[in-house]
Amino acid sequence: MAIELMELPYEQNALEPIISKETIEYHYGKHHKNYVDTANRLLKDSNFDDDALLIDIIKNSDGALFNNAAQVFNHNFYWLSLNPEPIAIPPKLNKLINRDFGSMENFKNEFEDKALSLFGSGWVWLELDVKEKLIITQRGNADNPLIHLHTPLLTIDVWEHAYYIDYRNDRKKYFEELWRLIDWKFVASNIVDYYHDLTEPCMENSQLCDYIDMLQHLNEPTT
Ligand SMILES: [Fe+2]
Repeated sequence: MAIELMELPYEQNALEPIISKETIEYHYGKHHKNYVDTANRLLKDSNFDDDALLIDIIKNSDGALFNNAAQVFNHNFYWLSLNPEPIAIPPKLNKLINRDFGSMENFKNEFEDKALSLFGSGWVWLELDVKEKLIITQRGNADNPLIHLHTPLLTIDVWEHAYYIDYRNDRKKYFEELWRLIDWKFVASNIVDYYHDLTEPCMENSQLCDYIDMLQHLNEPTT
């Protein structure tokens, strides 16, 4: 199965005025789509099976195929990290942020500092490292936490194409506005989706394992 261009979970004008419809038309409709099309073209001449998963392609490729496949994953993750409806941060995720950054304010400051000091194009990620610690990373170009065996929780696109139409060269303003769109429920859900695959078994007395149990319990049908 070819790599597909994901459907956006909201209308193209839903993130206005923070991200305009025009930005989405270019960013999603042209840049993101181009990564999908290029990755599919490169896949035809590769050794990957037709049904290879995007994550497996990223973990087992390099050069142009890695760059384009990882950019598809990173953009999928970015769109899902945003939500036009305000989503409150789950209390236990808030607790983990306080544990590893001291406060939400410190976390946001470090995230913005890393975004502003990232030279050139790339991504800023909130990740879980292999010691269950939350960390913020600057990753250049198409780099991705999965190939470092880290768990991706949240990403913000720092390529200029993400903000130039709406904010010109003001990357700081783009970041300040973007906090209002973060889907904290998605961020928390990624602990469940990726964590076990990468770092099983849970560490002894793991707060995160308790948290995962709580999230999984929340997702169970109630009837
Ligand atoms: Fe982008």
